Amino acid sequence: MSPIVKLTNVHKAFGAVKVLNGVSFEVGRGEVAAVIGQSGSGKSTALRCINALETIEDGTIEVCDHAVHDPNMNKNALRRDVGIVFQSYNLFPHLTAEQNIMLAPTCVKKLSKSAARDLAREVLSQVGLEAKADHFPEQLSGGQQQRVAIARSLAMKPKLMLFDEVTSALDPQLTGEVLKVMEDLARGGMTMILVTHEMAFARKVASKVIYMHHGQVWETGPGAMLENPQTQELRDFVGSGL
Ligand SMILES: Nc1ncnc2c1ncn2[C@@H]1O[C@H](COP(=O)(O)OP(=O)(O)OP(=O)(O)O)[C@@H](O)[C@H]1O
Ligand SMILES: [Mg+2]
Repeated sequence: MSPIVKLTNVHKAFGAVKVLNGVSFEVGRGEVAAVIGQSGSGKSTALRCINALETIEDGTIEVCDHAVHDPNMNKNALRRDVGIVFQSYNLFPHLTAEQNIMLAPTCVKKLSKSAARDLAREVLSQVGLEAKADHFPEQLSGGQQQRVAIARSLAMKPKLMLFDEVTSALDPQLTGEVLKVMEDLARGGMTMILVTHEMAFARKVASKVIYMHHGQVWETGPGAMLENPQTQELRDFVGSGL
């Protein structure tokens, strides 16, 4: 079966700074890939390239049958297939949880209000927040807001979800709530790539760990590789307790 995501020898620089230096990896359907590595190693950039938020200089990126490296690729079609959630939730403060979620399905997919509302209820229950549909963001905890942001992505029925350090701004208890939602998604068969500093979570949930160092995939393998690093760099990284 062909992979959902395939990066081949991807190069990306910001001016003179080379950020991705020949990155290659694949993620299969239903797989959960955890991208780990030091600050500045290129994790977020790699994720952003997958969703065409950045352009690349060399190499190829295939995502859900879209040739992302091709400047003529249809970005809207790509983004209908790929959901992305960041550390900051970016909910509209003047809209309720439900209204935030209904926005894209009504505007982009032209769903009727009532169909979009049903969909919002469905995805809110998926993240355990059906009771909070009418709450405004400021009436929700950080973890709840992040779960609404995840639900908002799910409402577009993506084939692939990208998560960039979605728990980094949260305290441990709220982090746990969000990680549980992600674990449920993984168990439900969602294909996911997550950049995370949560090593225990990566070990438990990820079918593949991608350790990035200096803009390269330094080591990759199943979660168990974290117990037996093959390179000094990963040994140091795991040892640093990050
Ligand atoms: N828009 C940009 N313009 C210029 N440089 C950038 C830009 N985005 C990222 N960089 C640089 O690219 C490098 C990799 O950044 P990236 O955000 O991918 O790292 P990261 O692995 O996600 O780090 P962190 O763990 O801190 O989030 C860094 O040196 C960063 O300063
Ligand atoms: Mg980052």
